[in-house]
Amino acid sequence: MTVNPSTDFYRNPEMQFRGEIPSGRIGWRSPSNIALVKYWGKKPVQLPQNPSMSITLKNAYTETVAEYMPADERGMDVVFYFHGERNEQFEKKTKNFFESMQATFPFIGQLRFVIRSKNTFPHSAGIASSASGMSALALILCDLERKYFDTFPNEEEFFRKASYIARLGSGSASRSVYGGVSVWGETEGLPGTSDLYAFPVREDIHPDFLNYRDTILLVDKGQKKVSSRAGHELMNGHPFARQRFDQARKNLEILLNALKQGDLETFIRIIELEALTLHAMMMTSDPYYLLMKPGTLNIIERIFDFRENENIPVSFTLDAGPNVHLLYPVTYRDKVMPFIENELRTFLTDAGYIDDEVGRGPEKII
Ligand code: DP6
Repeated sequence: MTVNPSTDFYRNPEMQFRGEIPSGRIGWRSPSNIALVKYWGKKPVQLPQNPSMSITLKNAYTETVAEYMPADERGMDVVFYFHGERNEQFEKKTKNFFESMQATFPFIGQLRFVIRSKNTFPHSAGIASSASGMSALALILCDLERKYFDTFPNEEEFFRKASYIARLGSGSASRSVYGGVSVWGETEGLPGTSDLYAFPVREDIHPDFLNYRDTILLVDKGQKKVSSRAGHELMNGHPFARQRFDQARKNLEILLNALKQGDLETFIRIIELEALTLHAMMMTSDPYYLLMKPGTLNIIERIFDFRENENIPVSFTLDAGPNVHLLYPVTYRDKVMPFIENELRTFLTDAGYIDDEVGRGPEKII
């Protein structure tokens, strides 16, 4: 039998034969993250075309509690409640995900799950929840393994596997299992990095970046017209794909250096270049599409002006949508909050903004 490391790295058939798992409950709170160097383009199975780097957030998170019990003769099953209401879309997605995980966690087939999940960020805010949601589920599966099979020699192995599993659910979710700065994707000069799971960059980050602020400005509530999944696919055959993947590798190296040196100017240049390149890739795919809204551009222009006129190092990044992440060192908070209220508020939906900052990673709640 051939083993594909991308999906079978942790295959362990032993785990089904140790008797019946009793009923119980496990819960994790897992945060969202925002990429500074973007993952855009993938190869089978769920492997990135280039390494990406993100900061993990603190206040934007998913809380998921899974109740599990022995399955009846119908086998593995999932019932999913999102904010107290049965959600068929998440139910189907989670069931498919759990089914695809059976080679890695053979005990899944013995269980039935009732899952209750909620996000701290408004449902209609257009904020992707796959990173926090999928990482919470991955942590729950690994925690089940830890509880009943005691297979992890240490915490590091536990989180590495959780990152690997989260990646299979959603690429960006692999980075959410760590706090601070994470890199997903093999990176020259950064030992420990891999395409299979994310890696926490714990050493040498300049203190200015450890409590960086991210205010997520909510520009539009509408559902995205093109999913990230479809967007990644459009990078196959994209005329600028090769150059883009090379550029991301270089940008990651430069950004990592800037994070270590506390070099704000380079930090700003690279993250804004990454944000605009991501959207440039969308605008130059075939078919092309546009996720920025007029409010997005208005905000970006005001950020440029404010930075230049006030000499305050505010900067922005974007994910695959119209919302703007306004990033700045915490020491400028007293100047930045009035700027948001007075100059940017007018471009925001009634949901306003999510005031966030770099966080310390997931937490077990049950
Ligand atoms: C623009 O992780 O959502 O946010 O692996 O298909 O689930 P899938 O894609 P996803 O893509 C995220 C794209 C991005 C950039 C990033 O987070 O690196």
